Amino acid sequence: MTQTENSYGYFDDDQREYVITEPKTPYPWINYLGDTDFFSLISNTSGGYSFYRDAKFRRLTRYRYNNVPVDTGGRYFYIKDGDTTWSPAWKPLKTELDQYECRHGMGYTRIRGEKNGVSSSVLFFVPKGENLEVQQMTLTNHSQEVKTLKLFSFVEWCLWNAEDDMTNFQRNFSTGQVEVQDSVIYHKTEYRERRNHFAFYSVNADISGFDTDRDVFLGDYNGFDTPDTVARGEANNSIAHGWSPIASHAIEVTLQPGESRDLIFTLGYVEMPDDDKWEAPQVINKTKALAAIERFNTSEKVQAAFDALNRYWDELLGRYVVDSDDARLNRGVNIWNQYQNMVTFNMSRSASFFESGIGRGMGFRDSNQDLIGFVHLVPERARERIIDIASTQFEDGSAYHQYQPLTKRGNAAIGGNFNDDPMWLIQSVTVYVKETGDFSILEEDVPFNNDPDNSAKLFDHLTRSFNHVVNNRGEHGLPLIGRADWNDCLNLNCFSSDPNESFQTTENQEGGRAESLMIAGQFVLFGKDYIELCRELGKADEARRAQDHVDAMVEAVKTHGWDGDWFLRAYDAAGNKLGTHEHDESKIFIESQGFCGMAGIGLEDGLVEKSLSAVNEHLACDYGIVLNAPAFTKYHIEYGEISTYPQGYKENGGIFCHNNPWIMIAETVVGNGDRAFDYYTRIAPAYQDDKVKLHKTEPYVYAQMIAGKEAATPGQAKNSWLTGTAAWNYVAITQSILGIKPHYQGLQVDPCIPKAWDSYRVTRVFRGVTYQIQINNPAHVCRGVASMTVNGDAVEGNIIPLQSEGSTVEVVVTLG
Ligand code: BGC
Ligand code: NOJ
Repeated sequence: MTQTENSYGYFDDDQREYVITEPKTPYPWINYLGDTDFFSLISNTSGGYSFYRDAKFRRLTRYRYNNVPVDTGGRYFYIKDGDTTWSPAWKPLKTELDQYECRHGMGYTRIRGEKNGVSSSVLFFVPKGENLEVQQMTLTNHSQEVKTLKLFSFVEWCLWNAEDDMTNFQRNFSTGQVEVQDSVIYHKTEYRERRNHFAFYSVNADISGFDTDRDVFLGDYNGFDTPDTVARGEANNSIAHGWSPIASHAIEVTLQPGESRDLIFTLGYVEMPDDDKWEAPQVINKTKALAAIERFNTSEKVQAAFDALNRYWDELLGRYVVDSDDARLNRGVNIWNQYQNMVTFNMSRSASFFESGIGRGMGFRDSNQDLIGFVHLVPERARERIIDIASTQFEDGSAYHQYQPLTKRGNAAIGGNFNDDPMWLIQSVTVYVKETGDFSILEEDVPFNNDPDNSAKLFDHLTRSFNHVVNNRGEHGLPLIGRADWNDCLNLNCFSSDPNESFQTTENQEGGRAESLMIAGQFVLFGKDYIELCRELGKADEARRAQDHVDAMVEAVKTHGWDGDWFLRAYDAAGNKLGTHEHDESKIFIESQGFCGMAGIGLEDGLVEKSLSAVNEHLACDYGIVLNAPAFTKYHIEYGEISTYPQGYKENGGIFCHNNPWIMIAETVVGNGDRAFDYYTRIAPAYQDDKVKLHKTEPYVYAQMIAGKEAATPGQAKNSWLTGTAAWNYVAITQSILGIKPHYQGLQVDPCIPKAWDSYRVTRVFRGVTYQIQINNPAHVCRGVASMTVNGDAVEGNIIPLQSEGSTVEVVVTLG
C-alpha cells in the first residue's frame, strides 16, 4: 500500500510489516518481541523494556512511565561521527536523521537510521526458545570517505521487581551490583542472596571501554539525550555500586567507503541452580550465559534464528487465510489480527504502553476470552492456559478475578465476585474442544483454589460455572451481578464516595441485589454450548437439567428484561431498571443487546432485530458503536465507576471495541451480513487509513477504546494492544461473517456476508487437515448455504465432515 499524507507509514503486506517512516508518531507505536518466556516491548524509537515471564517480578530493564517526553527508557544507541552525534532510532539524541524507517513485523522490529552517509539498521528479535533479545546492527558507510565512528550502546537495569524499583529508593540505591568481563556486562543485583538469576548485555566485538554507572555515563543532571560520555567520545569504565546500574559498551568502528559491518548485541536472562551459582567467591558462574551468547555471535547464526522465527509465523498464519478482493480484509484477518491475538494471549492485560506491567496479572475473564482468538494457533498452549485458569476457580464455581503468571495463584488483592467470570470458562473450554477434538481435557483433574488436595475433573468445573449463575439469581430470576459483570465499571453494589478507594476492590454493599442482563444473555449463549457439550458426552440428564435453566432464563429475560425496543441493562441495588427509555441518560447499553442477541433471546418474536435497530439508531456512529447513550453527565453513586468518566470516554459512552463484535455477531444471527460487515470496517485497523492521525495509537492493532460520539475528541483511540477486542473481532469476522466455524463433527461453513460480495476463498487448517474453501455468491444473498461439495462430492447441510489427517480438501460452497 502507498503512503497517504499524515499517515506516518504504510502496510507492507508481502513482508507482513507495518513501516513507519516518521519517528514522531502521535504516540509511541510499539511491537512485542518473544512469545513464550522472554518478552520485550519495543517502540518505533527503540523505547520499551524486557522481562522474563512476569512483567512485575522479573523486569530486566527499566522503563519510566508517564514521563516527559513520553517513552523514556529503552535499548539506546549513540553514534559519534566527528562532531555529529546521532541515534539510529532517532531517540534518545533526536538529531534530525537523513533517513528513518521502522519496520514492525511478526515478532521482530527493524529500525534503520541514516546520517551523514552512514546508516545503521538494527534488527531486534527474541529467537524461538531463547531467553534473550538479539540486536543485530548493520553499520554501512555510504560515503566516499573513511568513517571512524564511536558507537555506544545503552540499557538501564531494572532491579527486578518493577514496582519496588520505582518506589523503594532508600534500599535500591544501595543494592545494585554488576560485573564486567570482556565484552559482556552482567547485572547481578541480589544474586548473592535470594535470587538465582542474573542478566547480561553483550556484543560480539572488542570494546574500547564500558560504563555501568548511569550517572557517570550521563553526567550529573543530564538526560538520556545529553550523555557526557557520548559528547566526549570516551567511556569511563565505571563500575556501579548501588545507585542505578546500566550497561553501555563503547566500540570504535572504522568503515571504508562502501563497507558494512555487523555487530551483534544480546540482552539476556539466565537462571542458575543454587549449588552452581559461583565460579569464585563473588564471581558469578558465566558458563550458561556465555553459551547463550555464543549461539548468536555470528551473522549466520542470527540469520538462521531469524529464518526460523519467520518460518514459525508462516506456519501459524497459514492456518486461516482469506483470499478476497478486499486487501484490507485480507490484511486484517491474515496478519495483524492474529498477531494481536497472540500478544493478548501472552500478556493478558499486564504489559503495554497503557498497562504498567506491575498492576495486573492474568485476568480470569480476559484470558478465557483471549483464548478464543488464539486456540487455532497453538492449541497446546491454550490447553495449558485453560488448566491454569480453571485451577484458580473455587468449589462454588466463583473465581479469583486475576492470577499472577509466575505463581499461577489467584490474586487475593483483587478478589472475586465478578459474576460473569465463571461462564467464560465454559466458552473457552468448548471452543478449545471444538477446535482440537481433544475431549480428554475434560477428564483432567483440576484443583480448586490451587489446592492439589481438592480437585475435580475439568468438566465438573464447567458444571460449577453453570451452577454458579443458577445459584445466584435475583428477584427477577436474572443473574446477580456481584461486584460487576463484563463491564468492570458498572458497580451496582458498591457505593463509593471516597476518591482513594478503587471501584475494583471495595467491598460490596450489604445484600448485593443488583441483576445483570448481560450475564443473562451470556448464560443463555454459553449455557447452550454447555448443553451441546453434555449431549456430545452422552450426558442426557445433565443436558436436560441445564436446558430447563436456560429456558427459565430466556423467560426471565423476556418478562423482566425487555424495555419495549431493546433489552434492559440491569436492575440496580434498589431494584430500579437501568438502560431504559424511561431515563434521560444511558437509556440503552450495548452489552445486553450484544449478548441477548448472540444468544437469540426472543429471536422468533423479533426482539433481536428490534434491539439491533435500536443499537443502530442510538449507539452506532462513524467510529464504531458506543457502549451506552446518552452518556452519563453526572456522577451516579449507585452505578459506580462508569459515571466517573467524562462523556464519551471508556465505559461511559466510549466505543469499547471489545463489545462491538458482539453486535456484529448478533447481526449475523438475524442474517444481516451488510450491517455486520459495516460495523466490522468501522473499527478494524486496516480500514482506518484516513483516521490514523486522529486515532493516535498504532494503525495496525485494535485499541480498547475509541472516544465516542459524545466525547470532546471523538475518534481518538487509547489503550492499544491488550484488549479482548482482538479475539472477539477475529471470531466475528472469521467465524460469523466469513463463516468458517469449528464444530464437534467437522468444519461448519455458514457465512453471513454483504450481499454484494461475489466470492472469496478461505484456507483453513483444522485438526491436521487443510481445507481450501471456495465460497460463491451468485444470487447475492447475505446468508444460506444452497449447496456444498467436498472434493467434488455433494454434502448435505453445511458441516464438512472430518477428513483424514494430513490431507488437503477442496470445498466449494454456493450460497443462495
Ligand atoms: C477500567 C476498566 C477496567 C478496570 C479494571 C477500570 O478503570 O475503566 O476498563 O476493566 O479498570 O482494571
Ligand atoms: C477491561 C478489562 O480488562 C475487561 O475485563 C473488562 O471486561 C473491560 N475492561 C470492560 O470493563
